[in-house]
Amino acid sequence: NLKPVQVKLVLLGEAAVGKSSLVFRFVNNEFQENKEPTIGAAFLTQKCRLEDKVIKFEIWDTAGQERFHSLAPMYYRNAQAAVVVYDVTKAASLDKAKSWVKELQRQANPNIVIALAGNKIDLVQPNEEGEDDSESGRQVPTEEAKAYALEAGLLFFETSAKKGDGVRDVFTEIAKKIPLE
Ligand code: GTP
Ligand code: MG
Repeated sequence: NLKPVQVKLVLLGEAAVGKSSLVFRFVNNEFQENKEPTIGAAFLTQKCRLEDKVIKFEIWDTAGQERFHSLAPMYYRNAQAAVVVYDVTKAASLDKAKSWVKELQRQANPNIVIALAGNKIDLVQPNEEGEDDSESGRQVPTEEAKAYALEAGLLFFETSAKKGDGVRDVFTEIAKKIPLE
């Protein structure tokens, strides 16, 4: 029965990488196959209980379509956390993620906690050796994205909003990094 600490969190990333699906998984523990593109942004809240604190995330799920780009500063302004999402089966979506990270590091709160999430890992089938098969659909090697995240000072995750893999970790690890006021 700790008083929840409110944390404003923004999701950014190219259209259709699965931002809304990640939030839907985190909040409702469900998945919808053909989710509608987000228009403008959506707002949701969800609590995350840790041993020593309760975080109440106030989540701004932004629209990835380019025509909404200019709205983003309204949502990342004053945000204490950001999840920048790309699609592991789409190399260009990592480039877009990197440009969001740059924009956040230049314009957002200097203490913002940023997580990079490579989504849709369910589309990558491991081969018999347990390694990622080049024909499996993966376009972004884990090591490449991880190295970038390390260099840029980001938390790093691979996720599947569809299966649920890694989704809770994104929010829990962010919650752990938020200082208690
Ligand atoms: P915008 O709102 O337009 O920026 O898109 P978004 O990033 O919110 O993507 P959204 O969650 O709407 O998902 C886009 C499509 O990808 C939908 O058809 C989802 O069902 C699908 N999708 C999302 N996450 C996953 C995933 O982890 N695995 C698979 N296989 N499909 C996913
Ligand atoms: Mg969306």
